[in-house]
Amino acid sequence: MSKLLICGAHRLEGRVPIYGAKNSALPILASTILCSGECVIHNCPILSDVDVSLKILEYLGAKIQKQNHDIIINAKNIDRYDIPEFLMRQMRSSIIFLGAIISRMKKAKVSFPGGCELGPRPIDLHLKALKQMGVTIEEHHGCIECHVEKKLKSQEISLSFPSVGATENIILSSVFVQGKTKIINAAREPEITDLINFLNKCGAKIFTTKEGSVVVEGVSKLTGTEHRIIPDRIAATTYMAAAAVTRGDILLEGICSRHLSAIFPVFEEMGVKTCVVKKQLRLWIENRPKCVKFVRTMPYPGFPTDAQAVIMALSAFCKGTSVFVENIFESRYKHVDELVRLGANVKVEGKTAIVRGRRSLQGTTVKSYDLRGAAAMVVAGLGAQGETCISNLNHLDRGYEDIEKNLKTIGALIKRVGKKN
Ligand code: EPZ
Repeated sequence: MSKLLICGAHRLEGRVPIYGAKNSALPILASTILCSGECVIHNCPILSDVDVSLKILEYLGAKIQKQNHDIIINAKNIDRYDIPEFLMRQMRSSIIFLGAIISRMKKAKVSFPGGCELGPRPIDLHLKALKQMGVTIEEHHGCIECHVEKKLKSQEISLSFPSVGATENIILSSVFVQGKTKIINAAREPEITDLINFLNKCGAKIFTTKEGSVVVEGVSKLTGTEHRIIPDRIAATTYMAAAAVTRGDILLEGICSRHLSAIFPVFEEMGVKTCVVKKQLRLWIENRPKCVKFVRTMPYPGFPTDAQAVIMALSAFCKGTSVFVENIFESRYKHVDELVRLGANVKVEGKTAIVRGRRSLQGTTVKSYDLRGAAAMVVAGLGAQGETCISNLNHLDRGYEDIEKNLKTIGALIKRVGKKN
């Protein structure tokens, strides 16, 4: 198992490329199952979660060609409808394949994705919607078996929570369903918009109403297309926090500032300067950042839950006290104990975490328990005095391409010891 060694409190300065968004690439890769022609996906990040998605596509019968950040997929010969447990278990979001497989094969067999570090990851909203559309679902021995006896029916589906994954699964299972399927209280994350744009380029008819509902008008087939994945707004936020904690001055290349609308006010409150020119974002700060008073995670366009951990890591160094409220996941504070090991002053009470900023933290050995918690350890290690050693890097490698290379390029004293698993 590899570890990251960081010698902290070195100012970051320079350019960082922002790659394609993991949470856009994964559903788009799954949706290629629906395409009768070849799909060329550009700006696809090189991540372990993407690798697992490609393994699932190949298992199902798709032909894959990888050329750096370009992936060519031909799903014409897909002839399987099941995903074996060993593949399902490798990635929690593999459930996103369910809707696409049902659409294509009229049946599907997958294992429950299982919980993860963020607490139980229920899929009740996914299954309830599929049943409403006419999918027969049997759950036994940790397995979900779906089949469509007659035809899927277009429905008006009202989500009790704007679940990203459930929205994606309903879209993918309704693309070929005659009539109009309407998703009320659909998720509105930029990654959903990117998926819709991809599908419409393949010939789907999907639009969003002014109230934010998603309407899918069934079509008979989808062709292939070329598509460029949107930039990763959470990776961008992570590098912003890394620069701010070292009082650095960096230029992020290839961002979409519109997707960071809930992030900019947080950095502004901290006294961090930002300047956006087209797809470039310059961020700098000379003095110790001030604390952001209140951060509560909400569905988009609110403050993203995926940014909570890295902003908390930065807040641990700020002047003043910050209050975080995690409204999306049940258990997304596993990074707090590790921040406390570095000397941070953080108290958690249920969904709320109180962070009293300190002038400096002291490097030590820390663990990561989930993807964004791992990123939070990197941010905290960059700001701390002395050496920080971060283990369980498999979490980090799921969502950050070349993070140590990018950080080293802008002045971080960081290296990976042991081989990447
Ligand atoms: C997606 O997860 C993202 N993952 C997550 O990013 C992100 O944190 C999350 O959306 C929220 O923005 C991918 O896109 C691959 P949800 P997803 O369904 O779809 C509850 C990262 O770090 N819920 O919107 O699983 C659920 O338990 C990852 O990149 C149900 O109760 O998120 C959670 O509390 C982490 N029943 C809340 O809704 C359901 O059927 C949000 O879940 C589905 C969800």
